[in-house]
Amino acid sequence: MSGGEVIIRGALLYGEGEPTDVLVRDGEIAEIGSGLTAGDATVIDAAGQVLLPGFVDMHTHLREPGREDTETIESGSAAAALGGYTAVFAMANTSPVADSVVITDHVWRRGQEVGLVDVHPVGAVTVGLEGKQLAEMATMAAGVGRVKMFSDDGHCVHDPLLMRRALEYSSALGVLIAQHAEEPRLTVGAVAHEGPTAARLGLGGWPRSAEESIVARDAILARDAGARVHICHASTAGTVELLKWAKGQGISITAEVTPHHLLLDDSRLETYDGVNRVNPPLRERSDVEALRKALSDGTVDCVGTDHAPHADQDKCCEFSQARPGMLGLETALAIVAQTMVEPGLLDWRGVAKVMSERPAEIVGLPDQGRPIAVGEPANLTLVDPAREWTVRGPELASVANNTPFEAMTFGAKVTATLLRGRPTVLGGQVQR
Ligand code: NCD
Ligand code: ZN
Ligand code: ZN
Ligand code: ZN
Repeated sequence: MSGGEVIIRGALLYGEGEPTDVLVRDGEIAEIGSGLTAGDATVIDAAGQVLLPGFVDMHTHLREPGREDTETIESGSAAAALGGYTAVFAMANTSPVADSVVITDHVWRRGQEVGLVDVHPVGAVTVGLEGKQLAEMATMAAGVGRVKMFSDDGHCVHDPLLMRRALEYSSALGVLIAQHAEEPRLTVGAVAHEGPTAARLGLGGWPRSAEESIVARDAILARDAGARVHICHASTAGTVELLKWAKGQGISITAEVTPHHLLLDDSRLETYDGVNRVNPPLRERSDVEALRKALSDGTVDCVGTDHAPHADQDKCCEFSQARPGMLGLETALAIVAQTMVEPGLLDWRGVAKVMSERPAEIVGLPDQGRPIAVGEPANLTLVDPAREWTVRGPELASVANNTPFEAMTFGAKVTATLLRGRPTVLGGQVQR
């Protein structure tokens, strides 16, 4: 597919108003109107479909380098494009860890070479994710990959002094620290949410307090450092209350919620299927309800997929031995539509906000999450809000198949994605 002109015909912009044509040229939105024509433009018939700004995922695990048997930058980019994403942030817990500019620059360059989505490298906060010594954040930030976000995700930066230094340093550099909030002393042996279900099934419990104590601490550390902090995968009603409190104090704290925490609860564990093991764990229905409400009222800022591919042999084993994590990129929009749009908690403009505008703003991407308007970069996602489809792991673009949504039927699907005017997905197919 060349970088020629594209006409998106008859789409509802943000799901609102009358069907409208959008002409894309030279990577930008050139015209918006009706009956638009252009000689040899690629025409996308978008009747009945919703046009949104391209999605931005602040939380993706691609497994390159190190575990290319489960995901590569290429396969993960395809999954992202199919999910409607035009930018993703690839977490640092690769092997080797992305704690140096050599790795972060490689990730950025490889993503650009693949060309399906901007793959922004996340740098590690500490060397080797070991929580002992700060990594060279400034060098990574100054590299070709321009690292904008740092995280030890997979691990919590639990030493409060080190977290304080990281926050001070990040605010001087103008970058963001994203925290995997887990007090490790409270999660020794934990594989499931601590509650009646885990107790009955004999699974080690992960209390809500392991997350909430770190959220509270980091809000206070961020306040005193005058820094920003972002909370990864918020999973409890208590975290929502703490975010409300901290934001009310004027603390620069933001948070994401995953699609799986918006949809699933710990009743899924009854089968002992390792596919449902994830960090933080699936919580209770009351937490799910609180998270949905928080995303709808802005207490939780955005959706982050925490797309975490794992090999069959690491998932299809005893529950307590299964690696935590689940696929998320290709199913995110469908789940947000089902959990937020259908019950009236968000309209499509709200979806644009939580899946594109807010994440772009939080992490500081000037060309993403922009309005659909003439002269703006053509990073766009087209959603069919009435397309039934059934999830089949092997049909997903990810190398790994660990979707907890296997065989579930959803009612909305991404049909096309444009990255700087180039269709990366058309008719639900990746355009390489
Ligand atoms: C993530 C992974 O597999 O890298 N796993 C998970 O359960 N979420 C790490 C993480 O996000 O903490
Ligand atoms: Zn995490
Ligand atoms: Zn993660
Ligand atoms: Zn697959």
